[in-house]
Amino acid sequence: MAKQVSQRVKTLLSQMTLEEKVAQMIQVPYAQTGREESLRWAKLGAGSFLHVLGDNAREVQQTALNSRLGIPVLFGIDAVRGHALNDHATIFPTQLACACTWDREIAREMGRVTAREVATDGLHWTFSPLLCLSRDPRWGRVNETFGEDPYLTGEMAAALIHGYQGDDLSAPESIAACAKHYIAYGEATGARDAYDSEVTYRKVREVFLPPFKKAVDAGCATFMTAYGSIDGTPLTVDSYMLKKILREEMGFDGFVITDWMNVTSLVDKQFVAHDADEAAKLAAEAGNDMIMSSTEFYESAIRLVKEGKLSESVIDEAVCHILTVKERMGLFEQPEKVGVPGCIGCEAHQASALEAARRSITLLKNDGVLPLKKEQKVLLVGKNADDIWAQYGDWTYFSHPLWNPDHPAVRPYTTVKEGMERLGQVTYMPGCGPVADESDDLCAALSAAKDADVIVHVVGDVMTQVGEGRDRADLDLSGSQLSLHKALKNTGKPVITVLVSSKPLCLKDAANANAVVVAFNGGQHGGQALAEVLYGHFSPTGRLPISFPHHAGQVPVYYNQLPGWHGASYCDLPAAPLYAFGEGLSYTSFVYSGLTMNADTLTAAVTVENTGSLSGLETVQVYVRDVVSSVLTPIKRLIGYQQVQLAPSEKKEITFRFEKNDFALINRREKTVLEKGEFILMAGHSSKDEDLLKLSFTL
Ligand code: BGC
Repeated sequence: MAKQVSQRVKTLLSQMTLEEKVAQMIQVPYAQTGREESLRWAKLGAGSFLHVLGDNAREVQQTALNSRLGIPVLFGIDAVRGHALNDHATIFPTQLACACTWDREIAREMGRVTAREVATDGLHWTFSPLLCLSRDPRWGRVNETFGEDPYLTGEMAAALIHGYQGDDLSAPESIAACAKHYIAYGEATGARDAYDSEVTYRKVREVFLPPFKKAVDAGCATFMTAYGSIDGTPLTVDSYMLKKILREEMGFDGFVITDWMNVTSLVDKQFVAHDADEAAKLAAEAGNDMIMSSTEFYESAIRLVKEGKLSESVIDEAVCHILTVKERMGLFEQPEKVGVPGCIGCEAHQASALEAARRSITLLKNDGVLPLKKEQKVLLVGKNADDIWAQYGDWTYFSHPLWNPDHPAVRPYTTVKEGMERLGQVTYMPGCGPVADESDDLCAALSAAKDADVIVHVVGDVMTQVGEGRDRADLDLSGSQLSLHKALKNTGKPVITVLVSSKPLCLKDAANANAVVVAFNGGQHGGQALAEVLYGHFSPTGRLPISFPHHAGQVPVYYNQLPGWHGASYCDLPAAPLYAFGEGLSYTSFVYSGLTMNADTLTAAVTVENTGSLSGLETVQVYVRDVVSSVLTPIKRLIGYQQVQLAPSEKKEITFRFEKNDFALINRREKTVLEKGEFILMAGHSSKDEDLLKLSFTL
């Protein structure tokens, strides 16, 4: 049972028939189900609907309220980067781009704006944040993650959850968050979406659980189970993960929803159940409270209980979890969220999206060619420089198969081309894009280079290479992008490579440019943000939340690897990635000194000085290594970071306070233990050894 069950929920539960209780567990996909059938579900007392907006949602709600017990419906939507499935709403950068800011306040603000807009549309609940780790960039959903690191992911996710839920879930502009996909979904073998993850539960606890624990501690109202399986056990039937770890150990008291068709998949994709009844029994007993889309669960669960094959107490517990969240959300008093009328896509919200995009731009190389000068003649090349589809990436009204209206993108938005044309003298030549087609014109781009002082080449990927089921075996720049880059470089003009993509790509020769800038998918004003950084109106602040491989065959290249016997490299590639976790330059420079650690108070300090001539924001990163441990522990792992704004010549001492558990490990018996002994503390600009000051201390 939920930890605290109110009298209202107890009374309601006692009045519900078995059929009404099971209906409460069903989440109906409105678009696939259609209006008539959806209204029938609402009359039966279905607990939730997904992907329905406006008057359609109001009609469903009214029908539910007029049903026998009048329990309000909960409406869910994938508002994962702003309320971006509504084509008039504010579109933020992807979670991956947002993670480049490393800024908890940016994540919180993204959540707040999203919540306000979702609530204003009368909806209650977003299927966000996504807490899977991207340790293999071939995966199609890297863009939806906060990158490769458990600590950074947990920090950003907790902030985003606070933004969505506010201090009070029942407030008019608060919505429920959903931590997904529980768990180890990003770790599927070969980065093939929704495959088995060949990891142990010890590994799950060590690497994948910490961000979800932070989500529970942040009060996240709901969790979503992953599609995949851990060592052969589908998460949908994994009571160890769903009951023992999630509820008993972590103290989660919201409700758990399956992912799309997860119960059906037990029969037709994962082959662990013979039929719908067996699948329903497995899913219900494992601890799934709400069933997304697998509506056959309704008939099955009712039959199972009636035949004595499933205890009604299992159903009661699930319904109790769901009703308790509805109560916390204030739905019994106010079934429709009201939000802030007029706020959808308003100027203030767009300003927040622009700020997030600015802060996400990550400068990885600069020989002095940047910032650009207003009077320079710039040749801008690459289709992603003027393709709002590519700039948006996944989970907007363009990318979603159900939405995807065939009308042009709703203004305002700014592509890279538009942003740069506002700030400088720019000639644009599309050249080519990530997918070759007959409009490619490399010759025109090359001949335009003759008149240019500097070339900005925008490369990347497009939606057909991104998302669920679109994992890539090859991470090289696709189409003719790399050949075009080499030809541009051969003109002898300075070339700046800009990456507008969903994930790290292998830049190969495109990394040998005079400057390299990563923008990922910057959302509505991503083009403006990038232009402001290129022209020096804004000094770049982004830090990589994910490492870049030289070659797809080099993965994994995540920074927090375990030590290896024969070194960490292939014989035909360097050990280091092309760009490492935490990297990112600005137009000024920082110097670190005076790292100290007090092992009694667990307090560290380090001094940072701005040694350049411009003001700048530095992200001070702290890593630890356990020198000798009973199980292998990472060569370094992030345990803290802070951001500090420094004027030229300004110096500040930054202090960090840790807890014992920051130095703990998961032992062979899956227990969290602090093994005493020597540790190395590292602090500095990035995860790269050469960027870190180090000291040894003993616990
Ligand atoms: C995705 C989830 C998403 C759900 C609802 C699934 O395909 O895996 O992340 O929330 O659909 O749209």
